[in-house]
Amino acid sequence: MPNDNITLTAADRSVSLPLVHGSLGPSCIDIAALYRDTGHFTYDPGYAATASCKSAITYIDGDKGVLLYRGYPIEQLAEQSRFLEVAYLLLEGELPTVAQMTKFEDAVTHHTMMHESLKNFLHGFHYDAHPMAMLCASIASLSAFYHDTLDINDPAQRKLAAIRLIAKMPTIAAAAYRYSIGWPIRYPRNNLEYVTRFLHMMFEVPSEPLNLNPVAARALDLLFILHADHEQNASTSTVRLVGSTGANPYASVAAGIAALWGPAHGGANEAVLKMLAQIGDPKHVDQAVARAKDKESGFRLMGFGHRVYKNFDPRARIIRAMCHQVLAELGVNDPLLEVALKLEEAALKDEYFIERKLYPNVDFYSGIIYKALRIPTEMFTVMFAIARTAGWIAHWIEQHETPDARIGRPRQVYTGALKRDYVALDKR
Ligand code: CMC
Repeated sequence: MPNDNITLTAADRSVSLPLVHGSLGPSCIDIAALYRDTGHFTYDPGYAATASCKSAITYIDGDKGVLLYRGYPIEQLAEQSRFLEVAYLLLEGELPTVAQMTKFEDAVTHHTMMHESLKNFLHGFHYDAHPMAMLCASIASLSAFYHDTLDINDPAQRKLAAIRLIAKMPTIAAAAYRYSIGWPIRYPRNNLEYVTRFLHMMFEVPSEPLNLNPVAARALDLLFILHADHEQNASTSTVRLVGSTGANPYASVAAGIAALWGPAHGGANEAVLKMLAQIGDPKHVDQAVARAKDKESGFRLMGFGHRVYKNFDPRARIIRAMCHQVLAELGVNDPLLEVALKLEEAALKDEYFIERKLYPNVDFYSGIIYKALRIPTEMFTVMFAIARTAGWIAHWIEQHETPDARIGRPRQVYTGALKRDYVALDKR
């Protein structure tokens, strides 16, 4: 790698700062010495131009619409791989051999049970609690169940936590859903593979066998692959920030779930479906586009725009094609698809969206597929969380394998009152 420097001049002082080069993507200016040498901080709200870490997991080229997991293009993984193999790839850095995959799948399968006491924990929620609230709290509570294996400095314990999280997330997610509708919790069936097992835990009733269409399992597996990682997005950065304090993996991932929940991030898939239902008819689309352009309205087109993708979101392209196929194969005729297509068409030719490079993102079509799979709207972000767990924990492990890692501690531009003297209460 070249080891060149860049010179910045701040007021009367110049400072020579090293450039940091990755294997792909723009180089970064290492500003660690900037404050020491010039007395200035950098200001980058939303971290739009700041690399917070070095990572070898996922690469995005937002201008070209490229997404690579460990170097492999998302299109190839979507076409040829499956979610659990992608989870292994994210964690281990390489595609598994048959023996490695069998071992990994076996380990995940044998950690799918949740502690019986967790059921009581779930029962403490009101029946109409949002499943993201239940998931977030339940995952945080795992640190209480596994407090004997929380040594974050032990690679074996870190790996065990990764397996547990990937394995238990679907079990807890399905249990939260069933609790909310008053159905008995189904235990994971170890003779099924990951995604099919999850669908059984969601939909199987004790009174009759579940006839699951394999198209549904394949579609969900594909959605999980597309959502598995996305470099330093808000929830992953949250996991890393919490992890940087030395917090345990369950607490770190619970924080990631909380960050994912927001409508600007993973909560967008739920918001998209609600928005499409509100629009209701293709003939109301122009009105919705006009509202989205009006800053006073406070309304944005959910599922549109992305911090990094300024051309197209490659995941959205795959999901769009898949959406038509899945609906056709499942025999679902959803009028919301027509609304979505019209909305996409109208926005893509509108000057406001063209100028700002706003394209449909991964969440624009995923909700329509989830709906076709009978997954209720409030579970959409939970689906995202199940998939993103693979990425979160891969980043958490990478962070702990990075030598000289430091606690995350940004600075600020202080805009408050100047120093002043306290005035006693009776004198104010
Ligand atoms: N509808 C209407 N206008 C928009 C939208 C939208 N969806 N997104 C951005 N804009 C406008 C925004 O008002 C701003 O306009 P102006 O330059 O006139 O002030 C401009 O485009 C740039 O927007 P920004 O908010 O500065 O961009 P950002 O990079 O900070 O935010 C975003 C990215 C994804 C949060 C945003 O595009 C958004 O809120 N989209 C809707 C929510 C959504 O779909 N989120 C899912 C993201 S993908 C999956 C995930 O990460 O979980």
